[in-house]
Amino acid sequence: MSKKEIRSITDLPGVGPATANKLIEAGYGTLEAIAVATPQELSAAAGIPLTTAQRIIKAAREALDIRFKTALEIKKERLTARKITTGSRNLDDLLGGGIETRIITEFFGEFGSGKTQICHQLAVNVQLPQEKGGLSTSDNVAKAVYIDTEGTFRWERIENMAKRWGLDPDQVMANIYYIRAINSDHQMAIVDELFNLVPKENIKLVIVDSVTSHFRAEYPGRENLAPRQQKLNRHLHQLARLAEVYDLAVVITNQVMARPDVFYGDPTQAVGGHVLGHAPGVRVQLRKSRGNKRIARVIDAPHLPEGEAVFVITDYGIADPED
Ligand code: GTP
Ligand code: MG
Repeated sequence: MSKKEIRSITDLPGVGPATANKLIEAGYGTLEAIAVATPQELSAAAGIPLTTAQRIIKAAREALDIRFKTALEIKKERLTARKITTGSRNLDDLLGGGIETRIITEFFGEFGSGKTQICHQLAVNVQLPQEKGGLSTSDNVAKAVYIDTEGTFRWERIENMAKRWGLDPDQVMANIYYIRAINSDHQMAIVDELFNLVPKENIKLVIVDSVTSHFRAEYPGRENLAPRQQKLNRHLHQLARLAEVYDLAVVITNQVMARPDVFYGDPTQAVGGHVLGHAPGVRVQLRKSRGNKRIARVIDAPHLPEGEAVFVITDYGIADPED
């Protein structure tokens, strides 16, 4: 079968109706999901021989044109890549223009530092037309997925933030897919499911607020650190694949506690280490300042200039102090 004829998983060589059903049930209902799977996991999930799994994956990759690219192609892709505005020019500048697609952006900081407010704002802003800092095109509105682990999502905030840009609040809310994750397994199952949902809808932003809370609650203490980090790494890997395969932005939050007992080094430490670790992405530390002011700093991002940005949290969302 030639490349062009493979449009869905049933077009793949060796995938009959029965195998197709097994694949769909196991969360591999799209070519993209199969293309980024390993033969081992696909074989186990769908109960097919390893060699069949290898053949299916290869065909899916060819159909999707997953191949070597030249550095020049990469450069052009990056230069034309659009970014999502945060609502604050200061913060956008710090981030080199805004929140990027294809990578994970982590916001970490203590309670009240603005992580959840930024998530709400981005779920609105992604829907703006490209010339206004969103990812919508004239014929396709960009949508968001909001995975809430702490129950702190407020539609009222979305409403106010949408009004700020003159958008229809109900329409904006209709384009945000909200789900409450009840535990870490559920949280990971949701991301698996996104490999099916994302290609059907034009989802350009996936938020996980917070990415760590369930993991911390379920794996408390030092003795559980290793299994917790292992599972969290799997979750981050899932999210990184999602971002890459569908050219979307993934934004995660991570609460860190102020540690006044630490006298040397950084007094705010991510509990159990920094989540993103060496995974690709941008890490942004948030600190509280006076009143509604917040300070953002980008950590370990060699491609971004060092520095800090001051923004404010207002009734209408994330803005600049000078607005
Ligand atoms: P945790 O989830 O507890 O770790 O905190 P967080 O970093 O997610 O903090 P969040 O984004 O929830 O920020 C909370 C702050 O946002 C509050 O302290 C308020 O100052 C501000 N805020 C929240 N809602 C509103 C609002 O409707 N109007 C205004 N002006 N500020 C708000
Ligand atoms: Mg929060």
